[in-house]
Amino acid sequence: MVHGWTNLSASVDSVFLFIMEISVFLLVGVTGVMLYFVVRYSRRRNPKPENIEGNLALEIVWTVIPLVLVMAIFWVGWKSFVFKRTVPMDAMVVKVTARMWSWGFEYGNGAHTDVLKLPLGRPVKLTINSLDVLHSLFIPAFRVKEDAVPGRETYLWFRPDQVGTYDIFCTEYCGMGHSSMITKVEVVQAAAFDSWYREGEKAAGTAAKKPSPAPSGSRLVQEKGCLGCHSIDGSPKIGPTFKGLFGKKEAVIRAGKETEAVADEAFIHHKLLAPEEARIKGFPPIMPSQKGLLTDAEIGAIIDYLKTLK
Ligand code: CUA
Repeated sequence: MVHGWTNLSASVDSVFLFIMEISVFLLVGVTGVMLYFVVRYSRRRNPKPENIEGNLALEIVWTVIPLVLVMAIFWVGWKSFVFKRTVPMDAMVVKVTARMWSWGFEYGNGAHTDVLKLPLGRPVKLTINSLDVLHSLFIPAFRVKEDAVPGRETYLWFRPDQVGTYDIFCTEYCGMGHSSMITKVEVVQAAAFDSWYREGEKAAGTAAKKPSPAPSGSRLVQEKGCLGCHSIDGSPKIGPTFKGLFGKKEAVIRAGKETEAVADEAFIHHKLLAPEEARIKGFPPIMPSQKGLLTDAEIGAIIDYLKTLK
């Protein structure tokens, strides 16, 4: 390692500071010379205009200095870029899935979370996928940002160097729910992470032996991102609240005409797979289809859960 960086934020910050220092130097220099010229060549001091001829030495100096500066900026930027794209061999891999409008994380032990849990001090590689449109994973605290592209895997890596909870944003406009596509990174002590990881491993081991348990609806609406747009307590969001939704009579726009529909099992099942066919009045037509994203069993579990939200 020629640079001595151990984490990405140090490398990004050093490049940022370097460019900032050059910018401040140029701003002060240019402003100073300009003020000097205003005074030195004022009309009061020079009542008669003079013709000033070129100066070869000066031309060379003001060509070579900026050339050296931009090459230096390129060099530190390039070193930092290579560091950013070179994942350490011992990095732990976490799979990130972006969807409208939530983030999901999958670990080597099979555990799934909607908050990114990481151990302190160990490098982590995030492999990023999108199930629908372009999103972009942004963790400002660790100076990392990478697009989530449908049909392609992208990646980033970093080394969490402080225990704490930090923001994760989506930073690529992806529709009405874009601003609610937020979650957290939770950095914990390595020992705490390891015991959590082993618990997940054990759970996955027993789940593999037994027939897989029915997915719980309350978990699904969280994991699949439904709660980005729908509340469960009656508070307003982009989509209708889940509270009291099941069995309710709704004004529905179907093929441009307003009709009425009862939000029963068949209606919700259909609404999840082909949301564009019937829109609930008063809400924008932005519900993404869950075709291929939810199994029939999962839809059933979600409907059972909705029934409990009286
Ligand atoms: Cu996802 Cu913006």
